[in-house]
Amino acid sequence: MHQIKCLGGVYYIDHDLDMKNIDESSSIGPETKIWNGAKIYSGAKIGSHCVIGAGVHIENDVSVGDYCKVQRGVTLYRGVDADDYVFFGPNATTTNDRNPRAFGEWKLSKSKFEIGSSIGANATIVAGTKIGALALVGAGSVVVRDIEPCSLYVGNPAKRIGWVDVAGNVISHDDIMPEGLMQVISDPRGAIEKYLESNK
Ligand SMILES: CC(C)(COP(=O)(O)OP(=O)(O)OC[C@H]1O[C@@H](n2cnc3c(N)ncnc32)[C@H](O)[C@@H]1OP(=O)(O)O)[C@@H](O)C(=O)NCCC(=O)NCCS
Repeated sequence: MHQIKCLGGVYYIDHDLDMKNIDESSSIGPETKIWNGAKIYSGAKIGSHCVIGAGVHIENDVSVGDYCKVQRGVTLYRGVDADDYVFFGPNATTTNDRNPRAFGEWKLSKSKFEIGSSIGANATIVAGTKIGALALVGAGSVVVRDIEPCSLYVGNPAKRIGWVDVAGNVISHDDIMPEGLMQVISDPRGAIEKYLESNK
């Protein structure tokens, strides 16, 4: 990978990446790696230590935090705001207009991805939804409404089928959130950092 100097450090790009695909007004944090075929539009902000996979499409003004993994083929449309440690599985897609037409006015609906949330491969996040901290969305699911922190959602439309811990393990299929998750939900960043520390 090539090293490119940026404010505060370096980021790395695949040898085959066409730099014309990375808009000059986008900002990319140090130690972030970008693979070939990725396209990053004006005003997009990507944090440090991220991996942006091959063919990823990140539109104008999208915000991606630090330590995120955006797997190949993902599309993040304008209006996406992802906190730190968010995972987008291969070919997951966002949307940004709930009632689209090819004509007339276009109405932006934003989507929020809270810290540590994970989106499975090929999932679709319908515009205007919030994915709670550390929540996990199963592969191929279609999320149509806000989902709670540490919850596990699958299907189309996605329904809650359980709860996951910091590591992403399914710890319950009950309707009610396990009490043990209260602390995690009250400080998801602390929980992630503790997990990373204990797995060094
Ligand atoms: C949802 C997931 C985390 C598994 O959860 P789990 O509770 O261990 O799954 P189980 O296999 O016990 O399945 C529980 C139920 O959910 C269903 N289910 C599991 N994953 C599903 C999915 N993605 N979509 C729809 N239903 C799903 C199962 O069929 C099962 O239904 P049943 O109880 O009626 O038989 C996993 O299936 C998944 O989709 N992970 C994401 C993988 C991914 O995209 N990784 C990206 C990195 S490459």
